[in-house]
Amino acid sequence: MKVVARQAEMTELARRWRRAGESIGFAPTMGALHRGHASLIERARRENRRVVVSVFVNPTQFGPREDYARYPRAFSKDLRLCAAGGADVVYHPTAEQIYPEGFLTSVEVEGLSDVLCGESRPGHFRGVATIVLKLLETVRPARAYFGEKDYHQLAIIRRMVQDLGCDAEIVGCPTVRESDGLALSSRNAYLAPLERSAAPLLYAALKLGKRLTQDGALAPQAISARVRWQILKSIPGAGIDYVSLVDASTLKPARALRGPLRLLAAIRLGKTRLIDNIALSL
Ligand code: PAF
Repeated sequence: MKVVARQAEMTELARRWRRAGESIGFAPTMGALHRGHASLIERARRENRRVVVSVFVNPTQFGPREDYARYPRAFSKDLRLCAAGGADVVYHPTAEQIYPEGFLTSVEVEGLSDVLCGESRPGHFRGVATIVLKLLETVRPARAYFGEKDYHQLAIIRRMVQDLGCDAEIVGCPTVRESDGLALSSRNAYLAPLERSAAPLLYAALKLGKRLTQDGALAPQAISARVRWQILKSIPGAGIDYVSLVDASTLKPARALRGPLRLLAAIRLGKTRLIDNIALSL
């Protein structure tokens, strides 16, 4: 496995593979890799001839008061996980490589980037869309793999790729969970012991929402309200950013219990922001 730091080298290597007819699977990450990332890399390995993993903590997707400086970084451990998953290349550029002096361009997926997580994290999805487009342009993969845990991010990337005619297939991969239901996230490392033991109750509340949806007795808004109440009751001290039952592709609030829907939530537990979601196929 090779580590590539320079964008020009990554572009050239990927171009050579494509010319040789070798398909590229790509897993973009911010490092601090866990089993969720491993599942993306392993799937990329199964479905492609070549596998590239990027490790880049992207400064532009963090707000001024967010955790960019303390975001976990564990590059040596990341390399071991990438090698074990069968990656051919770890692309690990510097911020200067990605955002050289004079960089002015950004990508805004309007209407999708200012709702839900976008409301409490203004500018976040502009940073995500811009870096993902730049990485896709460098690697030009046949397939790019993203976790469904960041469902809002996945929906934005799908929209961007469709709107701009990028030829990568965007593959959404199921959320990987701890045995108690907590969705794996690099930010779980921030949780204090008591917060860690309460954190799985977020997913438990989403599962309650799913059961209520299947009963069909409540309207979408009443279901979100019930889930919100469940979170407040079961996780004392949690702050709720949002609980929302939405159309699975437009992310617009569901008006009726019809079609593929998604129940998404974001809460604050102490200094940690947790997000999770569940699919509702009706
Ligand atoms: O999901 C992430 O880790 C990041 O948002 C991504 C897609 C790698 C862009 O920085």
